[in-house]
Amino acid sequence: MATSIAIASGKGGVGKTSMSVNLSLTFAQMDKRTTLLDADFGMANAHILLGVKPDYYISDALKGSVSISQTLCSGPIGLSFASGGSGLIDMLNLDKKTRYQTIRLFDEIADDTDILVADVPAGASDSSLAFVSAADKVLIVLVGEPTSFLDAYSLIKVAHLEAGLSNFSIVVNMTQSEPQAKAHFEKFNSIVQKFLDVNLDYVGHLPLSTRLRQSIVARKPISIEAKDSRENACFQRIAKNILNSPKNETGGIRFFDQQIVQSKRVG
Ligand SMILES: Nc1ncnc2c1ncn2[C@@H]1O[C@H](COP(=O)(O)OP(=O)(O)OP(=O)(O)O)[C@@H](O)[C@H]1O
Ligand SMILES: [Mg+2]
Repeated sequence: MATSIAIASGKGGVGKTSMSVNLSLTFAQMDKRTTLLDADFGMANAHILLGVKPDYYISDALKGSVSISQTLCSGPIGLSFASGGSGLIDMLNLDKKTRYQTIRLFDEIADDTDILVADVPAGASDSSLAFVSAADKVLIVLVGEPTSFLDAYSLIKVAHLEAGLSNFSIVVNMTQSEPQAKAHFEKFNSIVQKFLDVNLDYVGHLPLSTRLRQSIVARKPISIEAKDSRENACFQRIAKNILNSPKNETGGIRFFDQQIVQSKRVG
């Protein structure tokens, strides 16, 4: 059965899209059939990092004019990619029904997918929360700043209290060193544990890196262009750890809901 991973953050601009693209490519390199969904609807930009131009968007599949398979385009190393579309104002605030329909669209590719990575909009909006709670695993990107801590705390609180999630993987981005990343994590974890009964799992860090930033400007993802780099070693470690991290079982609306996928197969 396919595993779904939502990549989220409290604060914007902390590296979710860079993480989503490079982690997806890392999974693809591990021979996992991987699909990246740019769920930052209306503001999607992962295709730019990947250097691909989709012919169709999720919005087209929602209208019924194409199937989800037709919206998928091929990225490097066999990665499949679906974009929420950019500059589409009507996609910015998806209503509840449309969010449900979007999650159900992916049932069609359940048998052809090992891992679905969803790049989710920043913050604790209804849209972010819907994708976060629909995924088996949530990776929260944290940076060592009080505003990032506060916003990540708010996201975890809402996801826990409103959607019943208890397991969160944490990656610390833009750090000077691994010990610094761990120190940020420990500090954040101690704040969260004071108020919430949740499990935070440290899955790794990513250094503040000019090479990573340049790879994004050049549209040449570091995970394929610089395989021996320390950044790529970090992505490999994060990918491995997240696969071993605990799943959330919320009982709500889920990607690849086994019962629904099964009934669609029979139907
Ligand atoms: N480890 C890093 N080192 C240096 N620059 C980084 C790193 N991670 C991300 N960046 C840079 O930070 C900026 C924001 O990254 P990115 O777009 O991935 O963040 P985001 O969380 O997806 O933002 P948004 O909330 O707007 O969707 C980009 O310019 C990116 O190149
Ligand atoms: Mg982004």
